[in-house]
Amino acid sequence: MTNVPPTAESAILAGAEPRTNTRKVFIKTYGCQMNVYDSERMGDALTGDGYQAVDTVEAADLILINTCHIREKAAEKVYSQLGRLAKLKKQRNAEGGDLMVAVAGCVAQAEGQEIIRRAPVVDVVIGPQTYHRLPQALAKARQGERVVETDFPAEDKFDGLPNTSARAIRARGVAAFLTVQEGCDKFCTFCVVPYTRGAEVSRPVDRIVQEAQRLVDAGVREITLLGQNVNAWHGKGADGREWGLGELVRRLAEIDGLVRIRYTTSHPRDMDDSLIAAHRDLPELMPYLHLPVQSGSDAILKAMNRRHTADEYVRLVERIRAARPDIALSGDFIVGFPGETDADFENTMDLIREVNYAAAFSFKYSIRPGTPGAGMEDQVAEAVKTERLARLQALLSEQTRAFGRQCMGKTVDLLLEKPGRNTHQIVGRSPWLQPVIVDAKAGKIGDIVSVRITETDSSSLFAERVEC
Ligand code: 5AD
Ligand code: SF4
Repeated sequence: MTNVPPTAESAILAGAEPRTNTRKVFIKTYGCQMNVYDSERMGDALTGDGYQAVDTVEAADLILINTCHIREKAAEKVYSQLGRLAKLKKQRNAEGGDLMVAVAGCVAQAEGQEIIRRAPVVDVVIGPQTYHRLPQALAKARQGERVVETDFPAEDKFDGLPNTSARAIRARGVAAFLTVQEGCDKFCTFCVVPYTRGAEVSRPVDRIVQEAQRLVDAGVREITLLGQNVNAWHGKGADGREWGLGELVRRLAEIDGLVRIRYTTSHPRDMDDSLIAAHRDLPELMPYLHLPVQSGSDAILKAMNRRHTADEYVRLVERIRAARPDIALSGDFIVGFPGETDADFENTMDLIREVNYAAAFSFKYSIRPGTPGAGMEDQVAEAVKTERLARLQALLSEQTRAFGRQCMGKTVDLLLEKPGRNTHQIVGRSPWLQPVIVDAKAGKIGDIVSVRITETDSSSLFAERVEC
């Protein structure tokens, strides 16, 4: 599923190795962690093609926008951004430069040729399944062709990508993403992902293990396995049996030096016993699970084609908590899906009270053209959606704050990830995914240190080192 928290918006540096006469690329990423990973891999492909990453548009010869299509107006926002880039390109070309613009990701997939038609500034449009062809597409574009690559090719794009260099891995930090599964066959009636990302595909075990090993050899200590519907991952294991995600996580936990494993995003229907047992058995598997429910009303869940009831979800949460009592749950919620009554909405509020979330992402339903939800009657009025979302978010925020307060005084292990805002501080991550700020003397990036949480504010926790 796409339900990775859809909040990231970042410029990804390819961690490129300097070359002479290098071209320079600026990559802007919108959307989920899968897009962050895709941008990294496009960065790898471009590094192999002689590009160096830069962190400003002004310094770039190539601007690559990796887009997200999950909610409303995504395409319009891309077009207006392209309008601004058209001015920059014109100015650059007037100065004798040669700026190229490429659009990647789910808007590229959904809009395809339309982008070429509406935005003359664009040289290359490339979908999520074809970005291994980016260097060839750019080569064609340099010859003056405008290229659209949005098919779902038979070949595996990962086979066509260079391995990430150890230097690039180090530049990206000690916590890394690794895509194990792509696409979705669930067809929730609100969602564009099955159309933009295509059918579910799982990467083979040996490729995943090799990539994980390379990450760890370069200093990575935590890996988050990614997939739109990650717990639908399956593949042939080393023992010849068909493995699910639980078995894959067990295999990855054997890698020396890999101390933390996470995965996102899961569908409740694919949470099998083996994966739940992995949460019970493996200290490497962090006690945090993003498990979207979307709604607490059975009628709405049915209309959404979620394939589970509210009660089945709550029972599943009980089983997961029985296996790993300290697990923190996060979820995604949609308010105002067509036909949602006040009573349906109250069922969602009840489910939230019953489950008690540590974190959450919540949205007003947004019509996505081409999905079944778009054609449904009883669309909910905007004002009603606004009011419901405010109430739902107030409840979820209170639960998140309560979760933070519960951590006060607790001793937890932190993975130190990056320098803080000032040089005296370093930021680590708790097992429950919370950023925690400690004194820089607590250790160096990549260390796991034991700390006591001493203070919380709205977004961060503060802690001090505990000597063991
Ligand atoms: N409207 C509102 N929210 C949506 N999401 C997906 N599609 C839509 C839509 N059409 C939300 C879901 C999903 C998350 C990634 O984005 O909650 O889990
Ligand atoms: Fe997730 Fe449903 Fe979209 Fe698939 S169709 S990505 S399960 S929300």
